[in-house]
Amino acid sequence: MAAMQSLTIPRPDDWHLHLRDGEALRCVVRHTAETFGRAIVMPNLRPPVETVAQAEHYRARILEALDPGLRFDPLMTLYLTPRTTPQEVARAAAHPHVVAIKMYPAGATTNAEAGVSSLDGLEPVLEAMQEHQLPLLIHGESIDPGVDVFDREAVFVERQLGPLVQRFSNLRVVLEHITTAEAAAFVASAPANVAATITPQHLLLDRNALFAGGIRPHHWCLPVLKRERHRQALLAAVGTGDTSFFLGTDSAPHEEATKLSACGCAGIFSAPIALALYAEAFESIDALHRFEGFASRNGPAFYGLPVSKETVTLVRNPQQVPPSYPFGDGVVVPLRAGGVVRWSVRT
Ligand code: DOR
Ligand code: ZN
Repeated sequence: MAAMQSLTIPRPDDWHLHLRDGEALRCVVRHTAETFGRAIVMPNLRPPVETVAQAEHYRARILEALDPGLRFDPLMTLYLTPRTTPQEVARAAAHPHVVAIKMYPAGATTNAEAGVSSLDGLEPVLEAMQEHQLPLLIHGESIDPGVDVFDREAVFVERQLGPLVQRFSNLRVVLEHITTAEAAAFVASAPANVAATITPQHLLLDRNALFAGGIRPHHWCLPVLKRERHRQALLAAVGTGDTSFFLGTDSAPHEEATKLSACGCAGIFSAPIALALYAEAFESIDALHRFEGFASRNGPAFYGLPVSKETVTLVRNPQQVPPSYPFGDGVVVPLRAGGVVRWSVRT
């Protein structure tokens, strides 16, 4: 069969995105809004977005940073901390623009210091989330210092996630940016209230990409890239068309100097080319017929939101990726910088 030359799908959404704040926000928001209709915006600012009032203010800043010609609906999240209350959960659930609560294990990643070291004591908050059907978005990595960095996700799934979904069997849970065969298998066999997002980098790169010819700080993100067999398991998971898996770029911009440092920040900036990169990944396993579900339908179905009535078209036109984009006083280097992506997006 001749290779598909173009693919038109309902305008997709990004179910996991970092937009930052201030000048940085101004620089990056358009890269998402040019392609995606909605995005779930992560709350790991400093200080974190903990309350509905803070989320409302942050949303207003995002809309203000947007070029007037762009239509984009930021969906807001609250940062789960030891101070989160069931009352705040109820307020969030009643709010039209707050869609979920994000759990960072304390210190697990960028700006995760405010997170929770365990879910013990948060049972009333989780009960309230279950009752109001407000999803819990989880950065699923163990923070036990004895656990190897490459095992942190699998250990979290076994020790924390398993017991959590058993105990709160009606809680809506999204295991974010999954990277392992263990996580994919867990989500595939869990009931429909448990889902997962997958990034472009974890579908396209294995951990060798961190060390190709030298250390590659622009491939450093958390959870860290894994072995090839895990990447193959993620591709297999999306290739089945299982509706539990959907698009979440985890596009996480950092100024170049903070990546190229003796202790560089974790985060890969993919927003401008993310959709095209996902198309490459799906094409690599002959699964472009599954792309629409993953990019445009499964996420809205999980969150109970309408599928977009607009469309975007992917065309098999190679595009050159710029070496960097302006970012505050400096620049941010995107995934595939200076390289070529085999697809382009026409909106
Ligand atoms: O690599 C990452 N960067 N992983 C995360 O979980 C956070 C993110 C960020 O905010 O930079
Ligand atoms: Zn993230």
